[in-house]
Amino acid sequence: MSIKNLTKKNITTADGSTTIYIEELRETYHSKYGAITESDYVYIKKGLVYWLEKNNKSSSSIFEMGLGTGLNAYLTYVFSQERKLDCNYTSIENFPLTPNNLNLVLFKASIPSEEHHHFFDHLHQCSWEELQTLHHFNFKKIKQDFMTFETKQRYDVMYYDAFGYHAQSDLWQEEALKISYDLLRPGGVWVSYCAKGVVRRALQNIGFIVERLEGPPGKREMLRAVKEV
Ligand SMILES: C[S@@+](CC[C@H](N)C(=O)[O-])C[C@H]1O[C@@H](n2cnc3c(N)ncnc32)[C@H](O)[C@@H]1O
Repeated sequence: MSIKNLTKKNITTADGSTTIYIEELRETYHSKYGAITESDYVYIKKGLVYWLEKNNKSSSSIFEMGLGTGLNAYLTYVFSQERKLDCNYTSIENFPLTPNNLNLVLFKASIPSEEHHHFFDHLHQCSWEELQTLHHFNFKKIKQDFMTFETKQRYDVMYYDAFGYHAQSDLWQEEALKISYDLLRPGGVWVSYCAKGVVRRALQNIGFIVERLEGPPGKREMLRAVKEV
């Protein structure tokens, strides 16, 4: 299914931050209970911070499935600047949002750290497939289908941010999750807002050690999976 031509509109979520709603899928790019709150809690705190602390590191390579609005990438950039981290951030997106969909002014008004807003513009305006380096943050966006993505590169943390199971069940099956597994280094962490039992069992079948964690506001649980060393 192509997401490109579906009807999108900006909505404001419970924490005041903005996201995009797709009418035909009845699906949002982030939680309606708080876009920034979810992104920060699920991906940064339970994914990146967990990996950094567990491994006592100040650098990390992150792969994001689904660049979308760029919110996860932006918040990770801000976090890396505040914590003085070296980050490699690669994000894949098969259906890029148009500037019109993004309505950059509206988005920027709801994201924190005004001094870093230039990175939000940059991540949307920079070329696909080209490495961008800014203050120890290496950023690359790849315009491709995750299901056929191949690289020799391996990552420490995977932000798995596909649309929900009801909207994109193919991305929650073993075939797709195995691509995630293969992209991670031993000890690497896969993290997602999703808490579905079928997804948890699929992750376990592949070989991940899976934990159910308390979810962000509005979601009882979420999943984190570690690739054994
Ligand atoms: C929930 S949204 C991601 C939100 C995003 N992480 C953000 O911070 O705004 C899911 C994203 O995955 C993208 N996507 C869906 N299927 C894909 C695929 N097979 N390959 C790559 N990207 C895909 C969608 O176009 C959408 O942008």
